[in-house]
Amino acid sequence: MTTSEARTRIDDLRAQIDDANYRYYVLDDPAMTDAEFDALLRELIELETRFPQLRAPDSPTQRVGAPASERFAPYEHMRQMLSLSNTFNADELRAFDERVHKLAGSAAGEDAPAITYVCELKIDGLAIALDYRDGMLERGGTRGDGRVGEDVTANLRTIPTIPLRLREPAPSFIEVRGEVYLRKSDFERLNATRERAGQPAFANPRNAASGGVRQLDPRLTAERKLSFFAYAIAQLEERAPKIGTQWNALERLRALGFHVNENIRRAATIDEVIAYCEQWEARRDELDYEIDGVVVKVDDLALQEILGAVARDPRWATAFKFKPREARSKLLDITITVGRTGTLNPSAVLDPVPIGGVTVRNATLHNAEYIASNDIRIGDTVLVTRAGDVIPRVVGPIVAERTGQERVFVMPDRCPVCGAAVDHPAGEAMSRCTNAACPAQVVERVRHFASRGAMDIEGFGDVLAEQLTQLGLVRDIADIYALDNAKLVNVPRMGERSAANVLAAIENSKGRGLARVLTGLGIRFVGEQTAAILAADFGSIDALAQAGDAELQRSEGIGPEVAASVVLFFAQEANRAMIERLRASGVSLLSGAPRRRSDGPLVGKIFVLTGTLPTLTRDEATALIEGAGGRVSGSVSKKTDYVVAGDAAGSKRAKAEQLGITVIDEDALRHLAGDHA
Ligand code: IVH
Repeated sequence: MTTSEARTRIDDLRAQIDDANYRYYVLDDPAMTDAEFDALLRELIELETRFPQLRAPDSPTQRVGAPASERFAPYEHMRQMLSLSNTFNADELRAFDERVHKLAGSAAGEDAPAITYVCELKIDGLAIALDYRDGMLERGGTRGDGRVGEDVTANLRTIPTIPLRLREPAPSFIEVRGEVYLRKSDFERLNATRERAGQPAFANPRNAASGGVRQLDPRLTAERKLSFFAYAIAQLEERAPKIGTQWNALERLRALGFHVNENIRRAATIDEVIAYCEQWEARRDELDYEIDGVVVKVDDLALQEILGAVARDPRWATAFKFKPREARSKLLDITITVGRTGTLNPSAVLDPVPIGGVTVRNATLHNAEYIASNDIRIGDTVLVTRAGDVIPRVVGPIVAERTGQERVFVMPDRCPVCGAAVDHPAGEAMSRCTNAACPAQVVERVRHFASRGAMDIEGFGDVLAEQLTQLGLVRDIADIYALDNAKLVNVPRMGERSAANVLAAIENSKGRGLARVLTGLGIRFVGEQTAAILAADFGSIDALAQAGDAELQRSEGIGPEVAASVVLFFAQEANRAMIERLRASGVSLLSGAPRRRSDGPLVGKIFVLTGTLPTLTRDEATALIEGAGGRVSGSVSKKTDYVVAGDAAGSKRAKAEQLGITVIDEDALRHLAGDHA
């Protein structure tokens, strides 16, 4: 390779890596697999080693990750957050071990010093640092580029396995590092919920975790149900004895109240290390979290110091990366299955190919947009990955292999299960069957209706929902209330007693009220919170069913999307008929007096309260506004009509001024509300 060829290739690699980093860190939408990324980075490192004159300070090899975004305050790392060199097989592990022995030996003046390693699973999440002062969580940040990350303390506080207070005896200061991750089971649940809400699914738990930690609203972080494993003490200030080894550090972390992975192992030889790596590569699917390798660390912390680091990688540790679970195959056809939520899911029919020990014949293609944006065509040679339990996925076509015979895929406009029209809202990824009674959707709708967050029918779980729909006893949610003893005896393994219990629970659920019913109906974008707001504002399902777009949008947090979805739901004859059957069965469709008044001087006006008012408490002010037909919202937006500011009004007042919204005081509020007392 000539220097000029190398320059061209290096430019190309840097551009690809920068783009991949941007998509991974900034967009949370990776364009390639980790293995592909590693291969590019490796090639670049090799070229830059061979052609040192082509090195550049802005090369992606010169930094660990991506720069911190500007959405969060910077978190400056007191000690740089390093990355890890990779090893891909036993030979490379042995080479690592030899290097460690050589360096350690020359430092100690010995030929063959004994070296102990600690083997840890490499959790596939994102690295964070946590500072505790006097036992209290003070600050936490992401890795960023290794020197400056993002201060995401408020988000990290929502993660239950991150202690807010350490167990005694806590050091005066400690910086803990570890991995925030999402359990596979929580990931599946999250994606199911997102799908139900019409949001695109996450490609893998890591993306969901990384996006979760970097939410602007900590409540959204909390919803993701993230977890944390601690794996290092980066700094420690105390008079207690020195920790000495990585193993002791992990034990200390445990004693302080952190979750330390239970599969850590001490290894006295590199053969033991290799055995551990091979064992976990074979067993990775047994775990409820994703791992992408093993981290091998020199146990002795003093020796770690001596070994030091080169550029971005410490010399005392390495990441053994598992073999990528991906392969090439031919995309023979694309078929459509209808999901339980009515989504039309395209799936790939592949030329059977072994990936990571199983033969893969089908893979998901997510949705039409995914197929189009990745330009995947029937007949293409494609790259397929299989990550853990997650269904195999087509990553993209290998364009160079095209023959010209490939066909572009077109989504059908009729549901392949029931023949109803398919809806593909502009700007959304998923196409959906519009028929709520589509057999493919019934099970999930019934299960959701009976679930704890909705009608909470005890004993009516997934299995029963499945059985009842399969037996044809329940075709929609209203059928639940038509169940009786004679019908339930047909259910396999259902005794008299459990039948009686289920019937009692069904009867019981009739009085749960409108909010629960609305949640249970599974109207798109209407989850528990939105349902509660609508129920309180409208008071009855009839009032809600008659509400138009504009009227709905006057409710807190209801935007055009949600409003349109509610209107669409009640416009369907089939849905209205089902509601009538619920009513006829005695299901309560009321929520008491509607909060919203249709008369009064403040009808249609939205208020935000901030600061301490001179005489009214927050509740009293709210009652005054609502009593006059107005509404109180928690946050200032373009929809806000008035901000009522009292003493020590903070950012809400500033925001109002910025948006040009009228700021008033208590007197003005009383005046507007017609309260001239
Ligand atoms: S040690 C210098 N231990 O793997 C020490 N890292 O490139 C570097 N990771 O994103 C970290 N599990 O967050 C270490 N048990 C473990 C780990 C681990 C996962 C991640 C880490 C970083 C990457 C290392």
